[in-house]
Amino acid sequence: MMDTNKSQHGEWSSRFAFIMAATGSAVGLGNIWKFPYITGENGGGAFVLVYLLCVLLVGIPIMMAETMLGRRGRKNPIDTMINLNTEAAGDANWRYLGSAGIIAGFLILSYYSVIAGWAGAYVIKAFTGSFFSADATATKALFDNFIASPMQLIFWHTVFMVATMLIVMRGISHGLEKSVRFMMPCLFGLMILLLAYAMTTKGYFQGLHFLFYPDFSKLTGKSVLVALGQAFFSLGLGMGAVMIYGAYLPKEVSIAKTTVIVAAADTLVALLAGLVIFPLVFSYGLNPSAGPGLIFETLPIAFGNMPGGWLFGVLFFIMLVFAALSSSIALIEPAVTWLIECKGLSREQACVRAGLAAWGLGLATVFSFNSWSGFTIFGNTLFELIDYLTANFMLPLGGLAIAVFAGWVMKPAHSQEELALPEPLHYQIWQWLIRYIAPAAVFLVFLHAIGVL
Ligand code: TRP
Repeated sequence: MMDTNKSQHGEWSSRFAFIMAATGSAVGLGNIWKFPYITGENGGGAFVLVYLLCVLLVGIPIMMAETMLGRRGRKNPIDTMINLNTEAAGDANWRYLGSAGIIAGFLILSYYSVIAGWAGAYVIKAFTGSFFSADATATKALFDNFIASPMQLIFWHTVFMVATMLIVMRGISHGLEKSVRFMMPCLFGLMILLLAYAMTTKGYFQGLHFLFYPDFSKLTGKSVLVALGQAFFSLGLGMGAVMIYGAYLPKEVSIAKTTVIVAAADTLVALLAGLVIFPLVFSYGLNPSAGPGLIFETLPIAFGNMPGGWLFGVLFFIMLVFAALSSSIALIEPAVTWLIECKGLSREQACVRAGLAAWGLGLATVFSFNSWSGFTIFGNTLFELIDYLTANFMLPLGGLAIAVFAGWVMKPAHSQEELALPEPLHYQIWQWLIRYIAPAAVFLVFLHAIGVL
């Protein structure tokens, strides 16, 4: 007889392994590369505050919902939605939620791999002493020269994508669990060390002030949308990755507890990154709104001037690549699982095809920083466009759909059973957030961003 409690792909060896993998998916370039640079572009404190509210009121409830849908459906996102929909007797179109998620993950992976490639290149730069005694002018020149070269970007993008494919090919328990387990704690330790350095710089308090003092005059409708999008991006929500991971989650594990732990760890790492970057920005006279190059222009100054900076620089960028890998495997997994389960491909074949396609699309991002930088649509390069559409539209809309499905379509008896919250009140709070607050927030933010409100 088939054990219906188990997903077909096997299960996480323990709750700890699930937490590590989910944290691995959540913590990545979104925290260390993206959070600081969009915080800089959106004026600091007020943006950070809105971001934190989005995580708390929208991100956590939706993350619980997405994990729950995954654990109940136990398949790739499309079939999960089909299964759950049959159970709830809902509208058949819910399956497109699964497809949209697969596409979003795929689009994100295409540029994610390029940026992760930058981190790879910086391992070598750190190793060969390129940061030695560097000042702001030197690190900016180093970065500008680097991204001006399509061949270098393509090389590192390729290395990263191949690494992602190799890990995913080895399957859930071997590939994912083992690699994530030791990377996360190391990264965290290095960030603390960098924070200690940042505290010795003269711009530390200015950095703190920028990050935590909310100046609401700097907040626009667009920044609120970006903050919401970042909550989804950073937690890895709204595209089925969490759903897939939920499918591997044993029945007896508490979804609420694990979600809160993962969200807290994710937020902590993002704030830590901000605490390291902004003091350096102000100490060395850099521009907080420098854009996607921000960490590549600031951190090398620290590594070039702190004792032992050579070694820490090498280690930091290695860890960043690892953090990115544990996220990229989550981004590609929905597409791979779908190719295996719906198209009958072997895992190897599925990985090769999904990886190759994402690699090809990634070239658009590569050229956005050099040959095609003049090619813009509504003032955005292709990279900016893909990033903007996925993070600020596809993920929140996916999240909205998840919230509506979990809150309104799925039978409360089923969500209650699956979440198994110890107190009825806890379930009511979740239900209230997922039915009203999360959908309303996403909806209002959209209306405001497109200028209706
Ligand atoms: N959360 C990861 C980061 O912050 C990126 C990521 C992984 C992701 N899985 C995702 C983003 C799913 C959106 C959707 O770097």
